[in-house]
Amino acid sequence: MSLPSTADIAALAHDYHYTEPEDILTLAFERHANIAISFSGAEDVVLIDMASRLRREFSVFSLDTGRLHPETYRFIEEVRKQYGIVIDVLSPDAAAVEALVHDKGLYSFYGDGHKECCAVRKVAPLRRKLAGLDAWITGQREDQSSGTRSGLPVIQNDTAFSTPEHALVKYNPLARWSSAQVWDYIRRHDVPYNALHRQGYISIGCEPCTRPVLPNQHEREGRWWWEDAADKECGLHAGNVVAAAGR
Ligand code: ADX
Ligand code: SF4
Repeated sequence: MSLPSTADIAALAHDYHYTEPEDILTLAFERHANIAISFSGAEDVVLIDMASRLRREFSVFSLDTGRLHPETYRFIEEVRKQYGIVIDVLSPDAAAVEALVHDKGLYSFYGDGHKECCAVRKVAPLRRKLAGLDAWITGQREDQSSGTRSGLPVIQNDTAFSTPEHALVKYNPLARWSSAQVWDYIRRHDVPYNALHRQGYISIGCEPCTRPVLPNQHEREGRWWWEDAADKECGLHAGNVVAAAGR
C-alpha cells in the first residue's frame, strides 16, 4: 500500500482538527484493521480506555527498554489486567544492548546524549514492530513541547518510519488535549495511572533519564534534563524534529 497523498492526509487532519479523541480513534479503527496503540504513559491509558469502550479487541504494544522504573512495570501489568488485553511488550536486541554497554557502559547517555541508547533500546524495536503495521496510535499532545510538538496534527503520514515499500499512518487523537483534560478523564473514569505521578513525576520515560519536576516547571524538563529542549525527541517521533526545523 502506498502512503495516502500528503494533501489527502492534511485534509483529513484539518477536518478532524477539533474532533473529539473518541471520533479520531473511531476513524483510525475504520480506516485500518492493522493498527495498534503505542502505550507507556497516562495519555496512552486514556486511549486504551476509550478504545475499550469502542470495541472489544484492539492491539497495544509497549517498548520495554530494560531501564524502566519498577512502578512502570507494575503499571503495565495493572493496565493489562484491568482491561483484559494483551500488551505486546517489546525488548531491544540483546546483542545490540550488550555491544553498547560493553563499549560505553550503562550510563553513556549522560556524556554522549540520549540518542544512541534510545536508538538501540527504543527506536530499533519500534521499527521492527511498525514494519508489521499499517498505522499506529500515540498519546502525544501538542503542549508537551512547544519546540517539537506544537502544530502536531491529529493524523499524519509517518515519514520517519514509512519506507518506499511500506506506508505507515500515525494518529495522535489527543494532540489538542491539555494535560488537565487528560487527568480530568483519568479521574472521571477511574483509569489506572503510574504510581510515580504521586511523587511529582509528570512525563515518565526510563528511570535514569526521568526525574520529578517542581511546581510550574514544564513536564518535559523532567526528561533528559542535561540536554537542550530542542533535542528532547528520542527518535520515536523523529518526524516532529524535522517538522519543527521547517517551521
Ligand atoms: S518520548 O519519545 O519522549 O519518549 P513521550 O514519553 O512523550 O515520548 O510519549 C509520547 C508517546 O510516545 C506516548 O504517548 C506513546 O504513544 C509513545 N511512547 C513513548 N514511550 C513509549 C514506550 N516506551 N512504549 C510505547 N510507546 C511509547
Ligand atoms: Fe536509554 Fe535513557 Fe533513551 Fe531509555 S530514555 S533508551 S535509558 S537514553
